[in-house]
Amino acid sequence: MDTPRKKYIVANWKMNFTTGEASLYLDKLSKRIQPSRKVQVVLAPSTISLQPLSLQINRRQFKLSAQNFYWREYGAYTGEVALSQIRGFVDYAIVGHSERRYVFNESEEDIAQKVAAAIRSNITPILCIGETALDRKEGETAAAIYSQLTSGLHQVSKEDISKVIIAYEPVWAISSNKNAKPAKPIDIIEAERIIRKHIAKLYGKEAAEEISVLYGGSVNKDTAPAYLQLEGIDGLLIGNASLIADQFCAIVEIAKGV
Ligand code: 13P
Repeated sequence: MDTPRKKYIVANWKMNFTTGEASLYLDKLSKRIQPSRKVQVVLAPSTISLQPLSLQINRRQFKLSAQNFYWREYGAYTGEVALSQIRGFVDYAIVGHSERRYVFNESEEDIAQKVAAAIRSNITPILCIGETALDRKEGETAAAIYSQLTSGLHQVSKEDISKVIIAYEPVWAISSNKNAKPAKPIDIIEAERIIRKHIAKLYGKEAAEEISVLYGGSVNKDTAPAYLQLEGIDGLLIGNASLIADQFCAIVEIAKGV
């Protein structure tokens, strides 16, 4: 590959931090993380914090991501937030996270609609995919990845595939799951190859080489170096460790050094 893809370090704060706490935490991070052309640091706070943090951040240092949104433009959807309401605050949006799929029963069709809606709004969707422990046990890892990619991307054209980021998050490796264990580098590389092979089948070889593929699941500052050195892995999507400044800042530093 001629030009190396940029690294992404994405903090998924999930349902943590009040708006005040988020603001104090951002202040702490901004004193410790210097802007870098090599590493894009993206913070995904709760929806309620997007607007105040968008006024606080230096956009050369951090970008913001939504954790969720609804794909319709506006209307009678009690409790939902539309992209038109957060468009000015975020550059990225996490779509299809396993907690949305399995805790909130989000459907494949909703996920596909969200990916397409984000692209229409000039927001980069970070499409999360990954097999469950049962899929893996039954030898269905590749099938699960194929199926989630095919359905999640089915509204994305060849021109637009470069606007999507894929995050491989095996459900069994996410710290919130019982008996979670971090994925081994070999598991991640296998999945990354399956992902790029399927993207090549759907969109061609060039798209498969260019698309950014991140890993997420129990990442911390001790496991991050091995993951970030994997060829074909373009960054990390981090839950728990992103809530601890020492952990998160160390991971960003590691990414800069790779
Ligand atoms: P953990 O890093 O806490 O395992 O969470 C991963 C995740 O779900 C990021 O989206």
